[in-house]
Amino acid sequence: MVVSAEVLLQESIIEALRQCMNDGSLPLSAVPDDIVIEKPKNPSHGDWSTNAALRIVKHLPGRTPMDIAQTVVAHIPEHTAFSSMEVVPPGFINARLSEEFIAAQLQEMYNSPRLGVPEADDPLTVVVDYSAPNVAKEMHVGHLRSTIIGDALTRILTFLGHTVIRENHIGDWGTPFGMLIEHLIDVGDAEGLEELSVGELGAFYRQARTTFEGNPAFQERSRRRVVLLQSGDPATLKLWRTLVDASLDAFETIYSELGVLLTREDVAGESQYNDGLAQVVSDLRSWNLLVESDGAQCVFPPGFFNRDGSPLPLIIQKSDGGYGYAATDLATIRDRVDRLHADRMLYVVGMPQSQHFAMVFAVASMAGWLPSSVEATHVAFGHMLGTDHKMFKSRSGNTFQLQRLIDEAVDRARTAVVERNPELGREECESIARMVGIGAMKYADLSNDRTRDYVFDLDRMLSFEGNTAPYLQYAHARIRSVFRKGNVSPADTVPSLPAHAPAERALALHILSLESVLADVARSCRPHTLCTYLYELSSLFTAFYEQCPILKAATPDERAVRLALAHLTGRVLHEGLGLLGIAAPDQM
Ligand code: ARG
Repeated sequence: MVVSAEVLLQESIIEALRQCMNDGSLPLSAVPDDIVIEKPKNPSHGDWSTNAALRIVKHLPGRTPMDIAQTVVAHIPEHTAFSSMEVVPPGFINARLSEEFIAAQLQEMYNSPRLGVPEADDPLTVVVDYSAPNVAKEMHVGHLRSTIIGDALTRILTFLGHTVIRENHIGDWGTPFGMLIEHLIDVGDAEGLEELSVGELGAFYRQARTTFEGNPAFQERSRRRVVLLQSGDPATLKLWRTLVDASLDAFETIYSELGVLLTREDVAGESQYNDGLAQVVSDLRSWNLLVESDGAQCVFPPGFFNRDGSPLPLIIQKSDGGYGYAATDLATIRDRVDRLHADRMLYVVGMPQSQHFAMVFAVASMAGWLPSSVEATHVAFGHMLGTDHKMFKSRSGNTFQLQRLIDEAVDRARTAVVERNPELGREECESIARMVGIGAMKYADLSNDRTRDYVFDLDRMLSFEGNTAPYLQYAHARIRSVFRKGNVSPADTVPSLPAHAPAERALALHILSLESVLADVARSCRPHTLCTYLYELSSLFTAFYEQCPILKAATPDERAVRLALAHLTGRVLHEGLGLLGIAAPDQM
């Protein structure tokens, strides 16, 4: 197993502190829990650094951070991983890893098909709720973001050995279905399906809405249809199924274009929880949590307020008896906890629903449906903005069609790929263009902190320079080309020799943090951390490539070590991009 140097240093410091407490050299009552281990910005300050002494001094008046740091260092257990521990003002401890340690760790990683990343000892069952578009409505950019982020998290958690259950909580139930079904009857199955199947979901919905608004008789029919739907009328259910299937076909076209993992088996739409809704209400009522407010059945979880300071209700059942979105989400939580035995539930949904989830989780805890041993997290994300920094809209003012967005990215990627590789065959070009175009779109989304809005800028995301997918894919392809050109197989490389040049050492050290980066993403659900890691890896590789000739190295040993570093970099890029759902072509 690859040992994280960061963890090793942390453990060594804690061990040293215990000894200092035992022999009285640092009379602390407990080891402080706010010790930070970080990578110094300036590499001459060592490979890892800690502020431990600066934290401890607060508990030991009269001592100085410098003297504390020296005492700690004197107690650090002998470990071959560190070649030096230096104390520098105002009291930092800077550790430098030994070359033997780096070489041994690299070799571990090199020999491991999983790049030294262990599978969780204690695998969790994680439900990832993502994508979740609405039937007979267009999938919009918010659903696109959810699909991309949720898919990356799913891949990373699965790689780390967890049991991941994907749930596509599509909006396939509710009052609009009365209107949609009546509209389907009016336009006829054939035409309706035609419209739906080409992905014109938005148009279908808008037409239904327009008819509904201008036609009282249609409104009445729609209302009756909702009642029929809820009572399980077979003919109505059949029409409903037609709508759902047509929409799923349209969604699946997008999923397969994007190469995401979601399949039809992952669909767990709102309709699936109908049977649990009445139970949600009656249980809440029997525990005296339900309060009637303006005719609606509500729960008032503590800590939520309206703007005017009055308590904010979560509406469970509307005054007309209909159940809302919140009731469905409560029934969903019960299902995920009781039937699926989830340890962790991630909801990859836009930021505007933050309050909804906070309240739903609060009510679920009050009702005992969400035990404290189960984590429920809203993995919120910001808006996608146009290059004008306004909310993303198509030129015509309707919600932009995702398919067109994808086509445009692939078209532009094709142009770039053809320009750079005029010798490539048509088919090959096409396949690379898809990897680059779609990879660029995904990466542009994933590389920003998800909670922030980001600008959808095709020119920038497709640039071969900067923090973009093409830049990373190109670094990977360049490594593959070194091996092609040199006609060497990875088997001819030697990973175990210590690397000497500063660019080699910096690259090697960076490679070794893969595991801790993935652990961090799994915890924080922030895939941009992995993007930053891969971008830095590519930049360090570029520096190494420029400073350290690989095929023309001075000695066979040096050549073998450099080939090994290049090969390992290539594998990490390939795996890392793959975990983000991005393909890495062998040439581009
Ligand atoms: N269909 C919803 C929407 O389009 C998203 C559903 C998210 N998941 C959930 N469990 N509420 O906004």
